[in-house]
Amino acid sequence: MKLPPISINKYIAIAETMPSYYYTNSYYYNNTIDKIFKNSWQILTEKLDLEKINPVKFLRDSINEPLLLTYNNQYNLFSNVCTHRGNILCKKRDSSSKIRCNYHGRTFDKEGKILKAPGFSKTKNFPQLNDSLKNYPIKEWKNFLFYSLGAKIKIDKVLADIENRLFDFPFNEIYLDEKNSNTYTLDANWALYCENYLEGLHVPFIHKGLNSDIDLNTYKTELLENGVIQYAKDKNNRIYAYYYWFFPNIMMNFYSWGLSVNIIEPISINKTKISFLSYPIKGKEQPQDTDSSLVKVEKEDQEIVINVQKGISTESYERGRYSSEHEKGVHHFHRLISENLS
Ligand code: FES
Ligand SMILES: [Fe+2]
Repeated sequence: MKLPPISINKYIAIAETMPSYYYTNSYYYNNTIDKIFKNSWQILTEKLDLEKINPVKFLRDSINEPLLLTYNNQYNLFSNVCTHRGNILCKKRDSSSKIRCNYHGRTFDKEGKILKAPGFSKTKNFPQLNDSLKNYPIKEWKNFLFYSLGAKIKIDKVLADIENRLFDFPFNEIYLDEKNSNTYTLDANWALYCENYLEGLHVPFIHKGLNSDIDLNTYKTELLENGVIQYAKDKNNRIYAYYYWFFPNIMMNFYSWGLSVNIIEPISINKTKISFLSYPIKGKEQPQDTDSSLVKVEKEDQEIVINVQKGISTESYERGRYSSEHEKGVHHFHRLISENLS
């Protein structure tokens, strides 16, 4: 069944927000996975051994595409599925010098190129380019590896904005602190979590602790190509945080103590995985147990998002309007969804 396209007026002052069926009808959810998430850049967070052949997955909880990553002066990312009859090639990290399919013995090199195919000497026009393993885009940026299946959603402008605005951020002094990193599962649609992140209007109502740390009058939202940056100053007129969002689901939050990366992964239409990765600067610490700590603010956000999930699923709610002053980021997000789905 074909349902109406999502349409969000480009003028925020007259626009209506996302219709509730976007969050509740699986037609839109499946389309979102296909057209948006498959074309998005994601951060590769799996542990790698660059001497070996590493099986990794792209968006494990939704798309779950099996890929292989190798390194040989550069990163190579390609399909983990044999081009003959579709067997999965490597199930675990492998130190061999070649990739050999255990079904009929087809062999590939560590960049995915076909080397041998037993039993195919009489097959005409063989091998061709698509008998090698399909390559996928991968990019190294600062401490991170980004990868994608389709890569249609460009994030270079967001990365460039970080490089310019945060030119002196000590990327070479940050490290992943596992004990302050967390994963949550939330009973809500992934987009509700993102749109909550994209506005500061709720801060005085939901985050009393955070609200007393920042000067809300300094809160700014700027729109980027496939991204949004929000920032605010503290009571001493110093930048409290730069909140970067990459369409559709990545957040990079820069603080004086370091960087917090949030990855918002759909599991199903009403279940979402949230990964919080903490990267403190060496010698500094992510603040703990304060009224404005990330853990506390996160809990406050999750509670409200779960409540909204219940509200948008009701008979009565259809859609709302935007605050032109405070919800530019949410409007941009909804416009991006609608553009990418059409
Ligand atoms: S499926 Fe891999 S060689 Fe046949
Ligand atoms: Fe919040």
